[in-house]
Amino acid sequence: MKNYIVIGNPIEHSLSPKIHNYWFIKNKIKANYQKKLITEDNLKDIVKKIKEKEIHGANITVPFKEKIIPFIDKLSEEAKLANSVNTIHLTNNYVTGHNTDIAGFYLSIKSNKFNFKNKKALILGAGGVTPSIIIALRRLGINQILISNRTKEKAAILKKRFKFIKILEWGEFEKADLVINATSLGLKKDDIIALDESLFGSNIFFYDVIYNMQETNFIKKAKNKGCIVQNGLMMFIHQAAQAFKIWHNKEPDVDKDLVKFLQND
Ligand code: ATR
Repeated sequence: MKNYIVIGNPIEHSLSPKIHNYWFIKNKIKANYQKKLITEDNLKDIVKKIKEKEIHGANITVPFKEKIIPFIDKLSEEAKLANSVNTIHLTNNYVTGHNTDIAGFYLSIKSNKFNFKNKKALILGAGGVTPSIIIALRRLGINQILISNRTKEKAAILKKRFKFIKILEWGEFEKADLVINATSLGLKKDDIIALDESLFGSNIFFYDVIYNMQETNFIKKAKNKGCIVQNGLMMFIHQAAQAFKIWHNKEPDVDKDLVKFLQND
């Protein structure tokens, strides 16, 4: 029996055990996937357990995607680009950090009819997932990226790595074709993220990284205004599928049954 985990803080909301255990059964893999609430002090020990094959793979979530990096032997190209690791695997005795958020976001949004070429995107938030979104947006052909974050210094750090982004003050808005909520505001039912009226329009795409089963206020408001909307569920599914492929060398099914299964939470 192989052991897999997702580590984070908080971790209660994570659907990773549900999706991976579902795929284990579907693919007749003898394995077990659990969630584990940890603190920063535990990171070293988790990596050690992977090296010793006590744990066979881990997903990393908020707020450890960058903090885990110093403990890892090797980074994949994607993880290096984003400076963010969400999947760990032991390869040739090296603990290797991968990033499947870039592909997760890219695949989740690419299937829309929306034309991303030379468009402008506004990202709200500069937390752990934002670098992956920036990279995916560039691959989609977006040519202008604006970032607004409550703590401006965090947006400024991103600008050092991604020189082409433009920083807005928190609460300042500029019209864009794509508006992405990459903050954690919306995880709680009453969370409201301030949005300027000038942002809305029938051909404007609002994407919320949050995959809460109930609609976030961000999605509700954009939907009411007739905008195109998408939540983070497909991103979650695709990042998990990419992690599954790294661990088991097999593409799991991503179909309507799976979406329904996750939505029934
Ligand atoms: P981390 O910041 O540790 O990487 P995260 O969940 O990846 O954690 O990111 C949380 C994001 O949501 C950040 O952009 C955060 O803004 P700060 O950088 O200012 O903390 C944003 N966020 C969380 N709560 C918020 C709030 N109440 N108002 C505005 N932004 C908030």
